[in-house]
Amino acid sequence: MKIAFVGKGGSGKTTLASLFALRAAGTGAPVLALDADINQDLAVALGAPPAVTATLPTLSGHVDVLKEWLRGDNPRLPAAEQMIKTTPPGRGSRLLRVVEDNPVYDAAVREVVPGLRLGLAGAFDDADLGVACFHAKTGAVELLLGHLVDGPDEYVVVDMTAGADAFASGLFTRFDLTVLVCEPTERALGVVRQYAGYAREFGVRLGVVGNKVADPDDEAFLRAGLADAGVELLACVGSSRHVRAGDRGADRAVDGLEPENAAAVDAVRDALDAVPQDWVRFQADTVALHRRNAQAWAGAHLLDQIDPEFVPVP
Ligand SMILES: Nc1ncnc2c1ncn2[C@@H]1O[C@H](COP(=O)(O)OP(=O)(O)OP(=O)(O)O)[C@@H](O)[C@H]1O
Ligand SMILES: [Mg+2]
Repeated sequence: MKIAFVGKGGSGKTTLASLFALRAAGTGAPVLALDADINQDLAVALGAPPAVTATLPTLSGHVDVLKEWLRGDNPRLPAAEQMIKTTPPGRGSRLLRVVEDNPVYDAAVREVVPGLRLGLAGAFDDADLGVACFHAKTGAVELLLGHLVDGPDEYVVVDMTAGADAFASGLFTRFDLTVLVCEPTERALGVVRQYAGYAREFGVRLGVVGNKVADPDDEAFLRAGLADAGVELLACVGSSRHVRAGDRGADRAVDGLEPENAAAVDAVRDALDAVPQDWVRFQADTVALHRRNAQAWAGAHLLDQIDPEFVPVP
């Protein structure tokens, strides 16, 4: 099951993505976390030791390995360089599982805390400044997700960029559930309404998690605001001592999370588990975005990459 955390800057996307991933991994479920935010701080939030975070590889840095592997012997993809972020899998392509050995994971995915593996989109470096956009980095994540066939009880958890930028690439169509993290403020609700509009247009399944919800008044405020927006409130997380202590350098092991906040995170998991996976729809979204990109900038010849007969299945 694929889940993304989006929302206003500073709303708690990274925090909730990390808590979700840690709770799921804590139950023994296979978890692959992906950091697709321009601020690459998911590793820290997961509690990875500094010695580990300092040496993590990136997916964008190994995009050649990724393309070469995914291409397999798909006859529509004679050369890896022809693949773009929306290139859909077809007959002959290699699909990825959440847990397996493959050259992509060898190159760019690391177990950062026991039982939890992380892949990074990669941060901007000096060479990128002024010439590249962050979507060049998240493109590797998008391509990976388009080829990833996950089963129920396996989780792919993605921390996304702040603000509406999360909706600026095709990445936002890759998830079974997209969680909007929302603090109980009028401004945050405004952002939810805006996102709900984008999400509806593309048929993206959206849920809200209230964050830093202090009391029943906060929750009632969120519920009323969300009823207008037509989005469900899945759970509310309070201000967490455990999270704040983690910010001060204390142990981030998730068994220290307060029971009521842990229950809120688990309610999000229940909501995700209840979503029926629909691979026909998933591939149709990839193909639709690929068409848009081919027509908008990548070149109409890329339409030949679409295998109309193909649907990825685990
Ligand atoms: N429920 C919570 N309780 C206590 N502190 C929290 C909680 N949620 C988030 N925080 C703190 O608020 C700050 C912002 O959270 P976080 O980094 O998760 O937000 P973000 O949405 O990922 O931000 P950005 O837009 O910069 O990526 C962090 O210091 C985090 O530890
Ligand atoms: Mg963040």
